Amino acid sequence: MSALTDSPAWKALAAHQRTIATRHLREWFAAEPGRAAHHSFEGAGVFADFSKHRMDDTTLDLLHRFALQQDVVGWRDRMFAGEKINTTEGRAALHTALRRPPSMPLQVDGVDVMPAVAGVLGRMRGFCEAVRSGERRGHTGRRFTDVVNLGIGGSDLGPAMVTDALQPYTSATLRVHHVSNVDAADLVPRLAVLDPETTLFIICSKTFTTIETITNADTARQWLVAALGDPRATGAHFVAVSTNLEGTRQFGIDPENVFGFWDWTGGRFSLWSAVGLSVMLAAGPEAFDELLAGARAMDEHFLQAPLERNLPVRMGLLGAWYTNFFAATSHAVLPYDQRLQRLPAHLQQLEMESNGKSVDRQGRRVDYATCPILWGSPGTNGQHAFYQLLHQGTLLVPSDFIVARQPHHADPLHHRLLVANCLAQTEALAFGKTESEARAELAQRGTSDDRTDLLAANQTFAGNQPTTTLMVERLDPRAVGALVALYEHKVLVQSALWNINPFDQWGVELGKKLALRIGTGLLPGAVTIEGMDGSTRALIDRFRT
Ligand code: F6P
Repeated sequence: MSALTDSPAWKALAAHQRTIATRHLREWFAAEPGRAAHHSFEGAGVFADFSKHRMDDTTLDLLHRFALQQDVVGWRDRMFAGEKINTTEGRAALHTALRRPPSMPLQVDGVDVMPAVAGVLGRMRGFCEAVRSGERRGHTGRRFTDVVNLGIGGSDLGPAMVTDALQPYTSATLRVHHVSNVDAADLVPRLAVLDPETTLFIICSKTFTTIETITNADTARQWLVAALGDPRATGAHFVAVSTNLEGTRQFGIDPENVFGFWDWTGGRFSLWSAVGLSVMLAAGPEAFDELLAGARAMDEHFLQAPLERNLPVRMGLLGAWYTNFFAATSHAVLPYDQRLQRLPAHLQQLEMESNGKSVDRQGRRVDYATCPILWGSPGTNGQHAFYQLLHQGTLLVPSDFIVARQPHHADPLHHRLLVANCLAQTEALAFGKTESEARAELAQRGTSDDRTDLLAANQTFAGNQPTTTLMVERLDPRAVGALVALYEHKVLVQSALWNINPFDQWGVELGKKLALRIGTGLLPGAVTIEGMDGSTRALIDRFRT
């Protein structure tokens, strides 16, 4: 038993879970008429209804004790203060500095980082305005029509997701693409429809060593130079976003065209930095400022709201409640907004790369579950695919429903149907349909007795699936910033609860190393790699022959 699972707060929650484990949301709601209002609150423009969760005030009280025991507030404050809480890499985790008011100094290693943050933001603004206005042009003097962000992981998912989310704010004359996969099926068809004279590339890589991004950048450069017939064209058509200035120099990018950031910005937390350059090109500097303002508002909410009415704290605690005390192994994110179609993918990296760990901060193997599998896709599409499992499968899957009160379009019918479906699903998941209700419906339809048992069993919905409904006024840049920051802080909260470091990602390293070794082994005529397992060697042989 670890210190955590042996702790008073953990044991109290485990004991409490046993007393309420079989209680149904129907019972919670029947016993508490004001339940919806009691368990709903708002922060940074995000309204959250937590009432459809398997909890009561005692649960919340015990969860708050758990948060206090695990020093969630201390970890939050250390993160905001720039302490090196990423201990395995000896780094601070200061993505919040990227949206902090520039007038508030913040020291890292004795240096105020805010002037540098403001400096890069200012350069990004100048660059984006020049490209968007046509002042800055390609090698042959033509105006840019397309921007291709070459990056992967945090250098792709965040900016790609936000660019989609802000589509109503994006320029009609500058199309922004995101290419990530080393599979040429991602880059090559994209290049096939682009005009080299009017295409700008952003090589977006914190380390500037990521094989996928550098390979795509090399291929794009060859394509450009071959088409324009002049190697000097690279200078006008390539910019870089990186912390590795030596790497960008070696690639041949003028330091003037490099937008830097800092090792205290983790890849999956980096969209607020120069990694957001593609977002700013697409939606403009003002929208980017609003995005930062929304995230800042959520930072302030996280810092100031009491634990009891703190959105990231509540979401982190409820996630742990189901993961650790109900053995839930996955969590669904279901945005009822097509523009958030890439949000689940971004959150997969954010949560699973951060908290998908099995050793604690002291390097001891944990004896409790950490991050569940996060998955999801937009409603209503998912309703016609995997919701069957949510309604009638055997798994407990807590989920987040996200919806905007107002659409950007002027079609009330579509939006009403979208919202109706969102609310209907949370209602059905919570309350289900009892067997006697199913039987009554069958009787009303005149179903024969010999069919009733079978159909009633199939048409019963257990319900009791917990959901959070998050509602914003409109999916504008501010709301997007607040939503993403909410999940970032949920990650911090859960890392404190589980006593793990959320800011490193050693788990991605082994596969990268092995791929390099196997890559040489796949070359025609390569010698057999010593010490390789039989299965991998046989697959290499099959590929080579
Ligand atoms: O392989 C994982 C990872 O290191 C992520 O953490 C990161 O977001 C991604 O690769 C891309 O890294 P980079 O920005 O250095 O190319």
